[in-house]
Amino acid sequence: MAYLDWIDKRLPASEFVQKHVTGYPTPKNLNYLWNFGSLLGTFFVIQVLTGVWLAMYYKPDTALAFDSVQHIMRDVNYGWLMRYLHAIGATGIFFSMYIHMARGLYYGSFKSPRELLWWIGLLIFLAFMAEAFMGYLLPWGQMSFWGATVITNLFSTVPLYGPELTVWIRGDFAIGDATLTRFYSFHTTIFPFAIIGLLVIMHLSALHRVGSNNPDGIEYDKKGPAMVPFSPYFITKDAWFIALALTVFFYFIFFWPDAFIEPVNNEPANPLKTPLHIVPEWYFLSFYAILRSIPDKLGGAIAMGGSIFILFLLPYIDRSAVKSTRYRPIKKILIWVFFIDFILLGYVGMNAPDATSFVGLKMANLGVILTIIYFLFFALLPVLPYLEKPKLPTDRELPKGDQLA
Ligand code: HEM
Repeated sequence: MAYLDWIDKRLPASEFVQKHVTGYPTPKNLNYLWNFGSLLGTFFVIQVLTGVWLAMYYKPDTALAFDSVQHIMRDVNYGWLMRYLHAIGATGIFFSMYIHMARGLYYGSFKSPRELLWWIGLLIFLAFMAEAFMGYLLPWGQMSFWGATVITNLFSTVPLYGPELTVWIRGDFAIGDATLTRFYSFHTTIFPFAIIGLLVIMHLSALHRVGSNNPDGIEYDKKGPAMVPFSPYFITKDAWFIALALTVFFYFIFFWPDAFIEPVNNEPANPLKTPLHIVPEWYFLSFYAILRSIPDKLGGAIAMGGSIFILFLLPYIDRSAVKSTRYRPIKKILIWVFFIDFILLGYVGMNAPDATSFVGLKMANLGVILTIIYFLFFALLPVLPYLEKPKLPTDRELPKGDQLA
C-alpha cells in the first residue's frame, strides 16, 4: 500500500504493529484473568472521555459545584449518562484492578523478571487512589466534604510538621474552596494525563519487554510451541471479554445506577453537620478498616500505608522458585485466607466500629484480628519454601522446548 509505505518511511508504524500486536508472542494457556489488563485500558479511556466532557459543564467553586452536578444530571442532554459512566467507571476500574492484582499475586507475576512491571502497576494503583479521592470531592456533597476532611486529617499525624502539612495540602484550615480548586486541577490534568498516562505506557513497555507470565508460571520459550501471536488469538478474546464486561457495566448504568453512589452525597456539603457514619467508597473500605483497627491515629496511618507498601516488597518476600500458586499447596491455602480476609476487612470498614459483626464480635475487634491476618500472610511467605513441597506439572506434557523457571 503506497500510503502505508509513505508513512513507514517516516514513522515505524507497521513495525510497531508487527512487534506489539500481530507478531507479539503470547502464551496460549492464558485464562480469562489475563483479560483484565485490556479491560482496565478500556475503562481508563471511558474515564478520560467522560471526564473531559463533564469538565465542560462542571463548576469548581464551593458555591456552584453541587448545583452544577445537579444541572448535569437533570438539564444537560445525556448529562446523567456521562456522569454515571464516569462515577460507576471508577468502580469498574477498581474492581478490575483488584482482580488484576489478585491474579498477579496468585500466579507469581511479581517475580523476576517482572518486578518492575509489578512496581509500576502498584504506582498506578496509588495514583488511581489519589485520583479517585480527589474526584470524589468535586460533587461537593456531604460525603465528599467529610471524607476529604477525615483523610486529609491523617496528615496531621506526621510528627513535628503534621498540622502545617495538613493546612498546606488543604490550602486552608478546613476543606474549602482552595481545596476544591486544587483537587479539580490535579484530577483533570496532571494525574490522568501525565502521571497515570505515563505510568500505563511504562507498564505496557515493561510487559512487552519481559512478556506475559501464564497460569503455569513457567517461562516458555518465546519462539516455542507454547506461544501464539497476540493477533488474531488474544485480540479477539480481549474484544469478546470487554463486550461481556461492558454488558454488566451498562446493566448498572441503566438499571441500578445508585448501587455505587452514596445516598448521603446527594445532600450538599455542610461543614456544620457531620454525617452519622463517614464511609469511603467501597474500594477503600479494606484499607479504611486497617486504618481504624489501631486506636492511635499515627499507628493506624502507618498500618494502612504499610499494608500497601508491603506489596512492593513481594518480589523479595515470596522467595519460592515456583511462581504459580497452582503448584504450591500451602500458599494455595494461605492466599485464599488472604483474599477472604481482605473482603472481610471491607465488610468491617463499611460498618460502625461499635456495631456487632456476623461472628458476634464488635467490628472494631474483628478489624484487629483481620489486620493481623493480613500482615501474617506476608510474614509467612518467606518461610513457605522451607515448609512446602511444590507439586510441579508431572501429569501432563509441557510443550517441547519449554523449561521450568
Ligand atoms: C489502569 C491500570 C492498569 C492497566 C491499564 C494495566 C494494563 C495491563 C495490561 C494490558 C496487561 C497485559 C494483560 C494482562 O496480563 O492482563 C497487564 C499486565 C500486568 N499488570 Fe497491569 N494494568 C493496570 C494496573 C495494574 C496494577 C495496579 C498492577 C499491580 C500492582 C498491575 C500489574 C500487572 C502485572 C504484574 C502484569 C503481568 C501479568 C502477567 O503477565 O501475569 N497492573 N497490565
